[in-house]
Amino acid sequence: MGIKNKTLRWILPSCLKPSITHKMDSRIHVTIHSSNSRISLFDISDPASPLCLSDLSNSKLSSNLHVFTHSELKLITSDFSSVNFLGEGGFGPVHKGFVDDKCRPGLAPQPVAVKLLDPDGDQGHREWLTEVVFLGQLKHPHLVKLVGYCCEDEHRLLVYEYMARGNLENHLFRRYTLLAWETRIKIALGAARGLAFLHGEEKPVIYRDFKTSNILLDSDYNAKLSDFGLAKDGPEGDETHVSTRIMGTHGYAAPEYVMTGHLTTKNDVYSFGVVLLELLTGRRATDKKRPPREQNLADWAKPYLKDHHKLDSITDQRLEGQYSCEGARRVAALAHQCLSHSPKTRPAMSHVVKILELIAQLRDAPFVYIAPAQGRADNEHKEDEEEDEDKGKAKKETGRKQRRKGGYRHKHPIPIRAHGVYTDTHLYRAFKNEIIGVRIEGR
Ligand SMILES: Nc1ncnc2c1ncn2[C@@H]1O[C@H](COP(=O)(O)OP(=O)(O)O)[C@@H](O)[C@H]1O
Ligand SMILES: [Mg+2]
Repeated sequence: MGIKNKTLRWILPSCLKPSITHKMDSRIHVTIHSSNSRISLFDISDPASPLCLSDLSNSKLSSNLHVFTHSELKLITSDFSSVNFLGEGGFGPVHKGFVDDKCRPGLAPQPVAVKLLDPDGDQGHREWLTEVVFLGQLKHPHLVKLVGYCCEDEHRLLVYEYMARGNLENHLFRRYTLLAWETRIKIALGAARGLAFLHGEEKPVIYRDFKTSNILLDSDYNAKLSDFGLAKDGPEGDETHVSTRIMGTHGYAAPEYVMTGHLTTKNDVYSFGVVLLELLTGRRATDKKRPPREQNLADWAKPYLKDHHKLDSITDQRLEGQYSCEGARRVAALAHQCLSHSPKTRPAMSHVVKILELIAQLRDAPFVYIAPAQGRADNEHKEDEEEDEDKGKAKKETGRKQRRKGGYRHKHPIPIRAHGVYTDTHLYRAFKNEIIGVRIEGR
């Protein structure tokens, strides 16, 4: 079985409603584990055991999650209007909305993201339920919070906390933004902590779809894992792996998983290695526009990772040398380990977290500061934030045009010395938390 150049999600035959036959999965069974009382999803072969949603309402999920009606979610997203559009994957479109205690007693006023199942899409009830069951129970600062869900007739929706800066993919690959080195490390560390938490559960959870579009960022660039539609309970007891159908995303999925369907937490570690490479090189996991031998990032970059002299040539050129050389070396070595052909020699995510914590403390980055025309940075701060919220193509296009007129820009005003150009490690230290991104025109 091969893996396609997109997320693969098999939809099983259905039994609930004729209108949504291909979406409903009669073979999902919900059960409570004696070991840790976390509810798990099981595929069972008996088609006479349909999922009963009352199973959910009697469980600890019900105390964690709000159940919304379709009309309520329609109302809070202005009928899923394009103005509130945030993004879209295989499940369906995601729109911004706002909830408060008028919606549900006790519900804190907050912006939310509402994900709507596309009836013509390639995912269905199974993915929706998987997200409800995992995210409804797993709580961690680096996992996106599920506020609630809607399951009404054929409608399947998920309501999450709103993540102001959207997904990492947009920040890393949008032509006109540049994530600073320290921000990249902060994001890698946050995402690593999320994965380490999942793998460290009493019954480990395999995330299975680790990639930049599933890593969301809050206003301070804290990373949170989202999209648990492919998550799976890991092996238990003496089992070495879980056997599954092969699902995931081309370029991120570990080779042994693609070959055998054997799933372990080390498959996630491989995908993490690919994302580390994306952060280091600024290249996509797969890119059909590149020459054939450069199209698969992991295959192309691996030979460079161990050679300090070659490393410079693959590090994101857009950083223009503004990164820690020692940090880049350690990131490359870590990525190399994560991408090891043998799953056993890949590090545990808890170890990856420790290494990234050390890398985050390195302070050897040179800092080249090119001063903007005075008076600009302040005015542009607001515009940058608005644009970073990914509010839709029209707005992005306008922002892009405006930026083409400008030059180098910083998010925060920085004291300007006599000359416009600085190479100053001290400055870097002083403003490390503030200098989040530089936008460079025309890249
Ligand atoms: N909580 C959220 N806050 C802000 N944007 C979000 C949120 N959830 C999803 N998005 C946007 O929608 C996109 C698709 O969401 P995702 O959950 O990955 O859907 P799918 O399951 O279809 O892949 C994300 O990449 C992101 O841009
Ligand atoms: Mg996704």
